[in-house]
Amino acid sequence: MDKNRNNERTMAGSDVIVEAFTDLAPRYEDAMDRELHELWGLSYKDFIHRLIEEVPVESSGVILDVATGTAQIPVTMASRMVPGSAAIGLDITPAMLKGGVANIQASGLNPRVKLVCASAMDMPFAESVFDVVTCGLGMHHMDVPRVLGEIRRMLKEGGQLIIACVSAPSLWRSPLASTLIRMATLLYSRTHGSIRAQAEAAAVPNLRTAAEWRTMLSGFGFAAIETVATFPARRLWYPNALILRAIKSTF
Ligand SMILES: C[S@@+](CC[C@H](N)C(=O)[O-])C[C@H]1O[C@@H](n2cnc3c(N)ncnc32)[C@H](O)[C@@H]1O
Repeated sequence: MDKNRNNERTMAGSDVIVEAFTDLAPRYEDAMDRELHELWGLSYKDFIHRLIEEVPVESSGVILDVATGTAQIPVTMASRMVPGSAAIGLDITPAMLKGGVANIQASGLNPRVKLVCASAMDMPFAESVFDVVTCGLGMHHMDVPRVLGEIRRMLKEGGQLIIACVSAPSLWRSPLASTLIRMATLLYSRTHGSIRAQAEAAAVPNLRTAAEWRTMLSGFGFAAIETVATFPARRLWYPNALILRAIKSTF
């Protein structure tokens, strides 16, 4: 199992993440819509729907959405879930969850969606409690082996993991390419006063290819690993996105 944290690729500390997403929270969904159009030519709403297509909402169960942001994933899932199901969204940034509370109230799905403020690296849930865990575009900000260990612990045997991840060719992590990418992003962050750019720059070494994701997931005891969607970058120097599905199996 790839649990050696010393080997983990660097990313921003949680204080930078929380500051970045607190700053972005009031305009988060509009910003995502613009960014997703620019990167992959799809709207934020289409992205959420594409991810949810993979979630078995027709069977009842408890679903956890990790790094839920403004809770668009659990809210949209809850509108399709069968009676008896529930969705929980977890995020580390209170300001993002405040947007989530507003989205839940506006949806009228109040009792079926709950929000929890915590780090995905140490989640406050018991073992084997979730039927499905989802995560949309949040993994690159986190210590992936630690989060996968947590997800494995909390999923029931046979439970599904569905993640949308930002992905990039391994070339991006060559010393020269990653230095150039980080310099360009940090320059942008300084000139535009954007702490978000700083958080994204720190996440570049944490982007994985589909093959690397498969290796990582199988090392954590996931089976039937599939890349169910790929969103190719609109420009050579943009990252791609992937949606992966996997099932928790016995080692
Ligand atoms: C790009 S947003 C994605 C939000 C949501 N999944 C969506 O699709 O709109 C990334 C989210 O990851 C959250 N995040 C980053 N690191 C986290 C951590 N360690 N634990 C929990 N949430 C984290 C941020 O607060 C932010 O809300």
